[in-house]
Amino acid sequence: MNSRAETRPVAVVILAAGEGQRMQSDLPKALHRIGGAPMLAHVAAAAAALTPERIIVVAGHGGAAVAEAARALDPDIAVVVQEERLGTAHAVLQARGELAGFSGEILVLYGDSPMIRPETLRRMIEARASGAGVVVLGFEAADPSGYGRLLLGDDGALERIVEHREATEAERAIRLCNSGVFCVDGAKLFELLDRVGNDNAKGEYYLTDIVALARADGMKAAVALCDEAETLGVNSRAELAAAEAAFQARARAEAMANGVTLTAPESVHFALDTVIGRDVTIGQYVVFGPEVTIETGAEIRPFCHLEGCHVSSGAIVGPYARLRPGAEIGADAHIGNFVEVKNAEIGERAKANHLSYIGDAAIGRDTNIGAGTITCNYDGYLKHRTEIGERAFIGSNAALVAPVRIGDGATVAAGSTITRDVPADALALARGKQENKPGLAARLRASLAAAKRALAGE
Ligand code: UD1
Ligand code: MG
Repeated sequence: MNSRAETRPVAVVILAAGEGQRMQSDLPKALHRIGGAPMLAHVAAAAAALTPERIIVVAGHGGAAVAEAARALDPDIAVVVQEERLGTAHAVLQARGELAGFSGEILVLYGDSPMIRPETLRRMIEARASGAGVVVLGFEAADPSGYGRLLLGDDGALERIVEHREATEAERAIRLCNSGVFCVDGAKLFELLDRVGNDNAKGEYYLTDIVALARADGMKAAVALCDEAETLGVNSRAELAAAEAAFQARARAEAMANGVTLTAPESVHFALDTVIGRDVTIGQYVVFGPEVTIETGAEIRPFCHLEGCHVSSGAIVGPYARLRPGAEIGADAHIGNFVEVKNAEIGERAKANHLSYIGDAAIGRDTNIGAGTITCNYDGYLKHRTEIGERAFIGSNAALVAPVRIGDGATVAAGSTITRDVPADALALARGKQENKPGLAARLRASLAAAKRALAGE
């Protein structure tokens, strides 16, 4: 990207003061989640890809919650509150103080339109570089009703935007619509906004009015086009679900384009921040929560749930495994069916193949964890750690009562309840001694059968 505009500083204003009444929610709309992350995070991520000098979020209803969420994304994001919801122009005006003296490119995005792509925003900035004071992102709507229509002159330049409510029948027939995304010369934006009035059907200050105002000043305005899918906005729970589906479709396509095999793409669910290396294979019905990284060549077998974890190269996870926050799976390690791992490092080539809980633990390389092993990490008040060295062997159904350490090369006998440390290369045996009573099973059966017959009156 070598356009002049790329070198001009960029500021992004994200409008998120909408009440979202149709969501029927106490949560501000922009904080509803898609791919495990608030919609605001999706929009901020698209903005951040342009390395803007500033990002300003205009919050309204639930401003404190929006501010907290924005801080969690990036402490440099500024949040301003629009006390009264007087329209999109009024909303952008709230960012004036934060943008005092800024004269680069100002992009206006919506906090409830999470599908916008950085490439599209870059194209808008490039269109600005060709001399337009205002660039509007437009799209051909399958059903344009409700949207502002983009009115073009004979030369194809943008003349003005008319809102659906104010449009004539002829204007309503136009399918070229306003997405709401604007890129404006920062030196001119607030001057234009100051002149926007509210004499219209909604009695609101329309951001869209700046197009005609800019034209009247002799500035040019232009349209950049995008696919309708990218402008998708969320106003209801049903639209939230539709946006989730759109996000997942995009994430799956991107994963495959980056060299990930998805056996049944439609059954795999990603988070906004999922990172997957090349030549990873992901089986059917795998769900990624936030903060998962899978390295090259790992395999996630069907029906796994992963969040807050890291899987190294060559590791095999699942089927039916659950990796919770803090799970660090080493290279070529195996985590098998019905194994849950939380806040634990699993060393290289270590194996926990069946039915285990490994929490608050460190497992050394080449160690084998037998079926049914449980790290008893919680005493009802505090969590405690289990540390297992390298090349250890934990027999099936062992209960490791933390805090406890098991040395390198140690063996824990199956069925043991381990409450004391086990030295390296020791065998720990902590279970009741077996006694065999010859013939007793047969005698017991005979007497029980006789008792049953007596009860039945035979
Ligand atoms: C707006 C556009 C319309 C466009 C449509 C695309 C105007 C006047 N109209 O219409 O041309 O086709 O979006 O979806 O801009 N917001 C605030 N504060 C306000 C008002 C709105 O923050 O005072 C935010 C909302 O949270 C939302 C966005 O701005 O994210 C758009 O507001 P909305 O009321 O949905 O505008 P529309 O009438 O749909
Ligand atoms: Mg809208």
